[in-house]
Amino acid sequence: MSEPLILTQVRGEAALKVGVITLHRPKQLNALNDALMDQLGAALLAFDADESIGCMVITGSEKAFAAGADISAMAKWTYMEVYKSDFITRNWETLKRVRKPVIAAVSGFALGGGCELAMMCDIIIAAETAKFGQPEIKLGIIPGAGGTQRLPRAVGKAKAMDLSLTGRMMDAAEAERAGLVSRVVPADKLLDEAFAAADAICSYSLPSLIAAKECVNRAYEAPLNEGLLFERRAFHALFATEDQKEGMEAFLAKRPAAFKHR
Ligand code: CAA
Repeated sequence: MSEPLILTQVRGEAALKVGVITLHRPKQLNALNDALMDQLGAALLAFDADESIGCMVITGSEKAFAAGADISAMAKWTYMEVYKSDFITRNWETLKRVRKPVIAAVSGFALGGGCELAMMCDIIIAAETAKFGQPEIKLGIIPGAGGTQRLPRAVGKAKAMDLSLTGRMMDAAEAERAGLVSRVVPADKLLDEAFAAADAICSYSLPSLIAAKECVNRAYEAPLNEGLLFERRAFHALFATEDQKEGMEAFLAKRPAAFKHR
């Protein structure tokens, strides 16, 4: 078996469990090589398939969420090698197949593929120490894991161009102002905040979480009218669930909802 480049942990009890994945190549600042991305994808799919898990958190170290794709691995690759192996698409896009919510808890560097990995997650919670950027231009390449597409959708063209063309980093405060991250928290509270958000998410009905995630993601892919129709159909469909009855009855009875499908 190959060396573990991620650490996995399950937090919580009963149906309220959170799958935690820690990127673990500390000496290389969690540079994302092929083996790490294979392990990450496998862990995500396993947590997604595990009925006791409601939400996932991906995090790194204090110094780096991930400093990008592994430059030492890529340095000698040829066009034919990256083309034939379908570099990036093959194992980076596994995250797109995950239906449960995924939170990125980012401390330190989230650069290049590290920033792109965070952007593939549903929520980014950043420590005050976080630094985001797409410095690929300094290496004679461009972002290849969605950075040129997801960054402008998150922060707009002006800042996406600035970051992609100058290769500069933006700190957590700028990233929050720009809309890249959901919230910024003190570094020593990062995991507490991420786990609290994950615990709240886990307490809700999974079908409604999946529907909310699918609908928000649609906003990036479909024209407004198509997105609205998609949302309306998903909204209607949730009235077929026991959890909609439970959620509304619990509200009216002033008691906590006990969702069946968590
Ligand atoms: N790939 C491979 N190794 C990396 C790495 C990466 N992306 N980032 C850091 N490392 C390694 C360094 O080579 C160094 O290794 P050694 O100790 O063996 O020399 C170790 O991690 C520590 O890094 P530094 O000594 O450079 O640490 P620092 O604190 O001085 O600087 C940094 C930190 C600013 C993040 C700097 O390491 C850096 O600029 N890293 C590269 C960032 C980058 O260009 N990312 C984009 C990669 S391309 C990509 O991601 C393509 C894509 O779209 C998918």
